[in-house]
Amino acid sequence: MSDLILRGASRPLIGDIRVPGDKSIAHRAVLFSALAHGRSRVRGLSGGEDNNRTVAACRALGVRIESGPGSGPDPGGELIIESQGLDGLRSSATTIDCGNSGTTMRLLAGVLASRPFATTLVGDQYLEARPMRRVAEPLGRMGATITGRTGVRGELYPPLTIGRGGQGGSVSAPLHGIDYVSPQASAQVKSAILLAGLAAEGTTRVCEPAPSRDHTERMLRAQGVPLIVEKGLVQIEPAGWDRRLLPLDVTVPGDLSSAAFLLGAAAIVPGSVLVLRGVGVNPTRTGVLDALVMMGAALSIDVLGEVGGEPVADVTVWGSPLRGIEIAGALTVRAIDELPLLAAVAAHAEGETVIRDARELRVKESDRIASMVAALTGLGIDAEEREDGLVIRGRPGPGKVRGGQAKSAGDHRIAMAAAVCALFAEGPSRIEDAANIATSFPSFVPLVQGLGAELELRP
Ligand code: S3P
Repeated sequence: MSDLILRGASRPLIGDIRVPGDKSIAHRAVLFSALAHGRSRVRGLSGGEDNNRTVAACRALGVRIESGPGSGPDPGGELIIESQGLDGLRSSATTIDCGNSGTTMRLLAGVLASRPFATTLVGDQYLEARPMRRVAEPLGRMGATITGRTGVRGELYPPLTIGRGGQGGSVSAPLHGIDYVSPQASAQVKSAILLAGLAAEGTTRVCEPAPSRDHTERMLRAQGVPLIVEKGLVQIEPAGWDRRLLPLDVTVPGDLSSAAFLLGAAAIVPGSVLVLRGVGVNPTRTGVLDALVMMGAALSIDVLGEVGGEPVADVTVWGSPLRGIEIAGALTVRAIDELPLLAAVAAHAEGETVIRDARELRVKESDRIASMVAALTGLGIDAEEREDGLVIRGRPGPGKVRGGQAKSAGDHRIAMAAAVCALFAEGPSRIEDAANIATSFPSFVPLVQGLGAELELRP
């Protein structure tokens, strides 16, 4: 198990860099290429372990995926994906291991729901503890057969076995569209239902309490799928198109969720100037930028245009004194994966930061409310759990945060958020079990070292 060792008391961060490709968009680019008819090209992959699971899963289902000529560490890998559409997928000879990746498992569940063969999806110990009823229930209503491990209060956990079956388990009955009102704002749930809807008879409609990330809608539209998107509702109309998805030729924009760790770190210390090039700024994901500005960070966002239907910008941050804020409602949803980082930044801000409406954090790669509070406490910060969020009482200024020992809880974003907090602590810190950073951001440590900070991953 590798630990991250940080010296603390880092100087301001100065640099001009690119971050690896967006994890959410890359999952979709690979999987949706595998559903298309023809040859797709996907550039700018991060090489992160989660995305690699989606690539391996598509290969296991008979899709030809090869490294393209644009492969390399920078700007990231290129893949050439040859597919004969949804009906070209073949039964996997083995169970498919989704590793730590909830997006791989839940989106695949939507694709496999309509296939005339059964597939078993497994995950690592963290993914196997994550709730799957949220996809199994709507897909079951569409006529799919999904079984898993049942837990308390009827919750369903992986391994999941998915195949097609109507009433009585008949494999010949096609799926049928549903009108689904999702209890959570979840892009994974929405995407699973829409992917099943591609092969269903009738209209599929998903309504959510707040808009979750819309990468699926943007990409399926670019592939010729007739989608109607209205406030809080997405509808897929099966009629009027030939159900053949067009192949993709996309460059994945830089991952704002990865960039956020560097932006947040630079924002903490006056004197920092950091430029991050080519970052995705889809408005369903930019809550972290809004929150940093509310805290008093100086940011400039220069939109360059669209790449693969996604807006991309150069983002610059200047370090400045920060203050505590309240994060709630739709802002919580738009910053859901960046809440651990925002909690780390809040530790260095003046006053209290309150994060609310964030119950979903309890069912991420770890219980991120509990694991972030424990990590911050271990670094000498006054942080407290709430049922639906957390409260952080910041201690700005040099030497106010002591530093110490924190655990990642097996969660890449907790490891990186704790690291950001510890960079500017008075003394040294150790973040236990931090190799999982490679789940989403394999180049995090070298990039931060390149900005002049002292940290290293020790076996
Ligand atoms: C993701 C959706 C979000 C997010 C996750 C990636 C996606 O999860 O937290 O990291 O790519 O669709 P939920 O759909 O569970 O909110």
